Amino acid sequence: MNASLNQEIIEIYRKRAQNYDITANLYYLLGYREWAYRQKAVDALHLQPGDTVIEIACGTGLNFSLYQEAIGLQGKIIGLDLTDAMLTQARQRIQGNGWENVELVHTDARNYAFPTGVNAIISTYALSLIPESDQILEKGVNALTSGGRLALLE
Ligand SMILES: C[S@@+](CC[C@H](N)C(=O)[O-])C[C@H]1O[C@@H](n2cnc3c(N)ncnc32)[C@H](O)[C@@H]1O
Repeated sequence: MNASLNQEIIEIYRKRAQNYDITANLYYLLGYREWAYRQKAVDALHLQPGDTVIEIACGTGLNFSLYQEAIGLQGKIIGLDLTDAMLTQARQRIQGNGWENVELVHTDARNYAFPTGVNAIISTYALSLIPESDQILEKGVNALTSGGRLALLE
């Protein structure tokens, strides 16, 4: 079941990848303050300079600049995503900004082995697509440092 659901998701996001950022911003025109919510979720992580943050299903990396402002060059971002085309867009964003502290992992989040010592984990507008998200979150929470934070936005 996961395989066919994953394939469906990959096909949807391959089609959306190139215009994802533009279409995501269009919600603003409908009165949905998406960026305010993204900022609020990131603020809830209480990121500090040097922190490591993992984003589950990072897509094109729309949130990355919000993390960078808080963690600085000594920090690290790890972005996971299932869809190759979304990660291609994320890679372009990383190169365009000259960021050297971002690692992208092409994976089903269900199969990801979280490293230990993670300060923050976040997922935005993605977990409702993943039936076993509770299991992913359990693994993530176990990987957090003492005082580490998890933020979810749907
Ligand atoms: C609506 S986009 C959200 C992207 C990004 N988090 C954002 O806020 O803009 C949903 C993303 O979830 C990813 N995704 C869906 N199922 C996944 C899974 N099982 N593992 C990793 N990524 C997944 C898709 O590839 C897609 O990039």
